[in-house]
Amino acid sequence: MGEMQNIQWFPGHMTKTKRKIQASLKLVDAVAEIIDARIPVSSRNPDLAKLIQNKPRLILLNKCDMANQTATKMWIDYFKKQGITAIAVDCKSGKGLNQFVPAVNQVLSERVQKLKSKGMINPILRIMIVGIPNVGKSSFINRIAKQNRAKVEDRPGVTRGNQWYTIAKNLEMLDTPGVLWPKFDDKIVGEHLAFTGAVKDQVIDIELLAMRLLDFLKQLKPKDFVARFKLEDTDFENMESYELLELIGRKRGMLVSGGEVNTERAAIMLLDEFRAAKLGRITVEMPYGE
Ligand code: G4P
Repeated sequence: MGEMQNIQWFPGHMTKTKRKIQASLKLVDAVAEIIDARIPVSSRNPDLAKLIQNKPRLILLNKCDMANQTATKMWIDYFKKQGITAIAVDCKSGKGLNQFVPAVNQVLSERVQKLKSKGMINPILRIMIVGIPNVGKSSFINRIAKQNRAKVEDRPGVTRGNQWYTIAKNLEMLDTPGVLWPKFDDKIVGEHLAFTGAVKDQVIDIELLAMRLLDFLKQLKPKDFVARFKLEDTDFENMESYELLELIGRKRGMLVSGGEVNTERAAIMLLDEFRAAKLGRITVEMPYGE
């Protein structure tokens, strides 16, 4: 998995991306980082803090419709303790998006006070969106843009070619997000990204990935997972993950000639259902490693 991400993000590409984001950062007052509420650790970029330095920021825990609600609340608390404002959003339905502008205002309140004390009457503040691929950056921008149609051209004096959405009276958002790379070197991070589909399947051993997901599900025992595969009367917690994959495939009639289970098909089905939250609203990573 690490290899595949390195293909996407070769060093030259990363340097270019970094420069582009650094240039955009000069134009904004705050940064909103979108992460996946199911994997708040693995969906963060390792170098973002260094890139944005002291710029005010907030976190959007997106896809919260697919994450465990209690876990999402715990994550919001966790970030709050670190002094970071985080909100839960669902860019598919638009849920939670009304918290965005108030959260930005809160994060930028000091900056506004400072500008006002310097004599600016109604300072216009600017924000940009960043995140790794597939976390929902475009979905977010499209939704916010739809709610706030006005698009403003760059004013003279700033880098040309940028487009901004006016998303509140004194707030503008850059129309293109900063796309960041995920963490490469950690095997667990790679697996968690792959569970959610953030990493393409073609380059991954799909059966191995399904077995890793089953390792996790065996411990968590989500109700919907147990019910969906009718595992109530099975000692599935103590089964080998490959056997469990076979059992699940057999229950779905995924057999090949000779009565063996097509475990590849079973693996694809399991991952598809997990990614569509059909096995429940499951958060894979908990704060403090709980
Ligand atoms: P990106 O710009 O960060 O790369 O992500 P993008 O908005 O393209 O979203 C990636 C996928 O995640 C899309 O699905 C999108 O619909 C889905 N998505 C984004 N936000 C949410 C959310 O809050 N909840 C849920 N359930 N899904 C979300 P896709 O399969 O690529 O396309 P499609 O299903 O929209 O056709």
